[in-house]
Amino acid sequence: MSARVAVLVSGGGTNLQALIDAQARGDIHSGAIQLVIANRADAYALERAKKAGIATAVVLKKELGSAEAFEARIHELLAEYRIDIIVLAGFMAILSEAFTSRYPRRILNVHPSLIPSFCGKGYYGLHVHEAALAYGVKVTGATVHFVNEVPDGGEIILQKAVEILPDDTPEVLQKRVMEQAEWKILPAAVETVCSELVAERK
Ligand code: GAR
Repeated sequence: MSARVAVLVSGGGTNLQALIDAQARGDIHSGAIQLVIANRADAYALERAKKAGIATAVVLKKELGSAEAFEARIHELLAEYRIDIIVLAGFMAILSEAFTSRYPRRILNVHPSLIPSFCGKGYYGLHVHEAALAYGVKVTGATVHFVNEVPDGGEIILQKAVEILPDDTPEVLQKRVMEQAEWKILPAAVETVCSELVAERK
């Protein structure tokens, strides 16, 4: 039996697309995406999910009134869809320890730098690449890690380095890191974690 995967998103969803494509190619075969949850109603990732025939849900903290209610709703959806593995793919909200401790080694996140560089609170999206360029590092990359109570602090699953070029802007660098690293290591890590789960259950 394959693992049941939920993907949590906030924006464009190119990492979600990489997962959908990997599943279609058979590169992800030990798990299947059952649900996409967005914390923004206008996340383009929702369109990508719908196009692929995947169930979607929108959970808004503002509407629910508190972080506790927001996480409780996500938990409810994950239970309803009997989700085994949760993938944060450009999900721009930090989950509390009360939430993450319920799913040890079951939540994965993709981060656009080589952790422990340029990570933790305030380092998300384009800001990560701005920081890398401002520091002047010559190599950056992406990391997929398990999520625990420390933002970007959980055990590392996969990393890939990407070269920084002299004329890079944050936008150009972001695209290179996605193409050369994120869209490759995220599907690979999801398949690895799902296949381990399937093997454990045999
Ligand atoms: C990706 O670069 C992802 O690594 C990053 O946001 C972007 C989302 O793009 N995530 C973080 O910074 C999390 N700390 P996408 O919506 O096109 O996948």
